[in-house]
Amino acid sequence: MASSSSSSSPSWTTLLVLMIPFLFNAFLLPASPVDGNMYNDIDLTWGDGRAKILNNGDLLTLSLDKASGSGFQSKNEYLFGKIDMQLKLVSGNSAGTVTAYYLSSKGATWDEIDFEFLGNLSGDPYILHTNVFCQGKGNREQQFYLWFDPTADFHTYSILWNPQSIIFSVDGTPIREFKNLEFSGIPFPKSQAMRIYSSLWNTDDWATRGGLVKTDWTQAPFTASYRNFNADACVWSNGASSCNSASTTTSASSSSWLSQQLDTTGQERMKWVQKNYMIYNYCTDAKRFPQGLPPECKLS
Ligand SMILES: *[C@@H]1O[C@H](CO)[C@@H](O)[C@H](O)[C@H]1NC(C)=O
Repeated sequence: MASSSSSSSPSWTTLLVLMIPFLFNAFLLPASPVDGNMYNDIDLTWGDGRAKILNNGDLLTLSLDKASGSGFQSKNEYLFGKIDMQLKLVSGNSAGTVTAYYLSSKGATWDEIDFEFLGNLSGDPYILHTNVFCQGKGNREQQFYLWFDPTADFHTYSILWNPQSIIFSVDGTPIREFKNLEFSGIPFPKSQAMRIYSSLWNTDDWATRGGLVKTDWTQAPFTASYRNFNADACVWSNGASSCNSASTTTSASSSSWLSQQLDTTGQERMKWVQKNYMIYNYCTDAKRFPQGLPPECKLS
């Protein structure tokens, strides 16, 4: 037993090796292009003071009253990325309100990837509405209930957009995948840069129970909160992608999200969500498409 004393305490070399990740982080973090500070990443775009950045940039709130809603957009445009935001939705009676959080390009043949949260009466479930537009054409709605109360706390809503697919996730659980099926002639968003947009507005003509429940203005102002924005993304500026330049920390070679696909666990979890929480799927709405379901529905 006496002979083993040297192996019972770690050597200096071991300690140094253990410290390497921390040393790396210490150097890399300050250089990271996105630090989650709303002042650096976000522009408040409308609502005349109803959109606010608070707590030194850690928190953003949008509010809605009878006179106006409000909104923001990202300073950057992106061409592919893994974009996370934490949202805490309007609580209490949010019927008639819609909080939209989406990526969109510009022009008549725009691309768009949507999360929209349709409010409800106190205690009744929100609907998470999703859609994908390619070249100005959407009609690809899928809707879900959530497995938690999205107004009680912040939850992470993510869009992974890379050349192979678009994956919508909630708290890391994939809920929807839109695959690149261009080989079968189905368009996929991959050449137009998109910006992040969010807004809170009144849509009581359709949001809650298809428009039956109206906004109760005695509850105004309605407020939704945002924090921990993170974009591991290719920033598009002046016709060039940051992922094609070796000089930035977002260079493609260091970005695993750019080639990320759903693994078996991810596929299983997505199936679980779709089985238990999906309440509408355009791909099973045969009545809506009398000429036949959209081609991607048969392929994915
Ligand atoms: C609101 O609650 C009703 C009743 O539970 C439900 O049918 C509906 O899907 C819920 N969500 C919305 C946005 O209407």
